[in-house]
Amino acid sequence: MEHIIKELANYGQYHLANEEKYFDKFDYVEADAHKAIHKKYIEKISDFQEKFKTSKIKTTFELVDFLEDWWIGHINNIDKRYTKTFNEHGFY
Ligand SMILES: [Fe+2]
Repeated sequence: MEHIIKELANYGQYHLANEEKYFDKFDYVEADAHKAIHKKYIEKISDFQEKFKTSKIKTTFELVDFLEDWWIGHINNIDKRYTKTFNEHGFY
């Protein structure tokens, strides 16, 4: 499980950094606020990695709940906000 959390952290960082690369490229007006949300997510995953060292089962359940809520909420609410900007640059 520790390995999975590490992979999640790595993939999350890769995914979010890739998204942010396009914010900069397209001068997305809400880039700073969006990046701050990504930063909080990365910090939260780091917290889970620490907590996991002392409470494996509880942390695993909390992490799964967090991930489900965060990604669904983020994609449906926060990421949707850049749709127009990305579309204007040929991303559909
Ligand atoms: Fe995002």
